[in-house]
Amino acid sequence: MQQTRTLEITELKKKAEQMRQDQTQASAREELERQTTFMVENRDLWCEGRRYFIMTYGCQLNENDSERIAGLLEEMGMVAADDVETADMVVLNTCSIRENAAGRFFGNLGIIKNLKRDRPDLITVACGCLMRQEPHVDRIRKSYYFVDLVFGPADIYRLPELLNRRLCDKRPVYEVSNTKLIVEDLPITRKRKYRALLSIMYGCNNFCTFCIVPQARGRERSRKPAAIFKELQELSDASYSEVMLLGQNVNSYGKDLRKSEDYMSFPDLLRHAASDFELPLIRFMSSHPRDIDEDLLRVMAEYPNIERHLHLPLQSGSDRILKTMNRHYTLEQYLKTAHKARELIDDLAITTDIIVGFPGETEEDFQATLDVMREVGYEQAFMFIYSPRPGTLAAKMDQLDPELVKERFMRMTELQNELSRRAMEAQVGREMLMLCEGLSAQRDDRFAARSSQNYLCNFSLRMSQLPERLRQLAPEQLGAVLEGRFARVKITGAKSFSLEGEMVELIL
Ligand code: 5AD
Ligand code: SF4
Repeated sequence: MQQTRTLEITELKKKAEQMRQDQTQASAREELERQTTFMVENRDLWCEGRRYFIMTYGCQLNENDSERIAGLLEEMGMVAADDVETADMVVLNTCSIRENAAGRFFGNLGIIKNLKRDRPDLITVACGCLMRQEPHVDRIRKSYYFVDLVFGPADIYRLPELLNRRLCDKRPVYEVSNTKLIVEDLPITRKRKYRALLSIMYGCNNFCTFCIVPQARGRERSRKPAAIFKELQELSDASYSEVMLLGQNVNSYGKDLRKSEDYMSFPDLLRHAASDFELPLIRFMSSHPRDIDEDLLRVMAEYPNIERHLHLPLQSGSDRILKTMNRHYTLEQYLKTAHKARELIDDLAITTDIIVGFPGETEEDFQATLDVMREVGYEQAFMFIYSPRPGTLAAKMDQLDPELVKERFMRMTELQNELSRRAMEAQVGREMLMLCEGLSAQRDDRFAARSSQNYLCNFSLRMSQLPERLRQLAPEQLGAVLEGRFARVKITGAKSFSLEGEMVELIL
């Protein structure tokens, strides 16, 4: 009897949650219609034929946001400018994760201030994570009053409406909200024609004590699987070679949908992405060691079109520091996952993020981190000097001497250079399938490509290996043709962070 009642209550709760979600979906659809009306109006009012230039700071999530902003602007008739000097609108999509990103933003605003003196009609937009922090917005208000439009990362879908307000009334518009609404089916202009970024969720619930992201991007909100699958189908139809699924912590994807019919875990989502669409390569970023489970590793092992690469941010190798960082895993748990991943997935590259100089880090803690680096043998690591972010718990803790931290950072970099070089050298002599990215940044007789492990390779080719019609092309034209195509490459040499190779065969 009791059991039936509990079941009934669970069912009722599920229905209530479904109703709430349906209502949210209805408001998202209404919002899309509203914004579409503003888009049509803005086109005639100002946008048609005008040029925009977007500066993106920070991570791939921001890059993806910029692609949505570009999509909206182009839907209103605007076209991309080659540089800021020829633009009618400049958009600065900011990042707040470390202090230098904020510094670069204000530096660039200074440059735009000068530009604006000669061209008062230039519309300046500031958006992204930094706008969620009141002190920065205040600084813009006081010192950079020429900024026309300010909005937060959750407000991108409202760009048509906000721009309309600015165009109709010459006063600046400041709108930074923490709305949870996810508006689907917004237009998007992707930066690359072969690699697509796809955000599967927004925000983060983790509250690592050093990190500003949960404040800047709000709580976790997952897109519904159906919306993600629709986008995957579009990407497959458009013959994209690579899709990168993005989230601050992809392993907690779906947790907020748990009570509704839309629930799906990340391993299941990844499994569907790999098996139901014709997508040659699927990447994902980032995994939180706390939430990762064996199911995910098994899905990775099962599908060859999922990358042989796992980004597993360590942050610190000391349990004491991990605890003050509020990371919710112990070193033992972390190492267990890393070893299991290597055991289950052949030929896997593990990369990581590490913070040096977190408050209270002793030489012993630091040594423990170096030990983990040696034990896991990271193929690559992104190492950061701790940067106190106002509003986070760690910023209030006693800070270390910057000179000491710099010295630790150098020692850590040296070790990682050695580990990366060894990992690269181990690839020499192999033949690997690689996705071409175009002309190499180093030499114009080389082309760049990336392996499933995310190893970068600069390779040469012989004209006789190419189809007749490609042989007359200049290197940059050939680079553009090769972008997004797969090639089999023989690895002939290794540097610290890249490989050298010779093309064996062009595949697609
Ligand atoms: N200082 C330095 N590095 C940071 N990161 C996040 N916040 C900070 C900070 N305050 C790093 C973490 C995270 C990566 C994206 O940025 O290593 O994994
Ligand atoms: Fe920041 Fe931690 Fe969330 Fe990553 S998991 S975004 S480091 S709070």
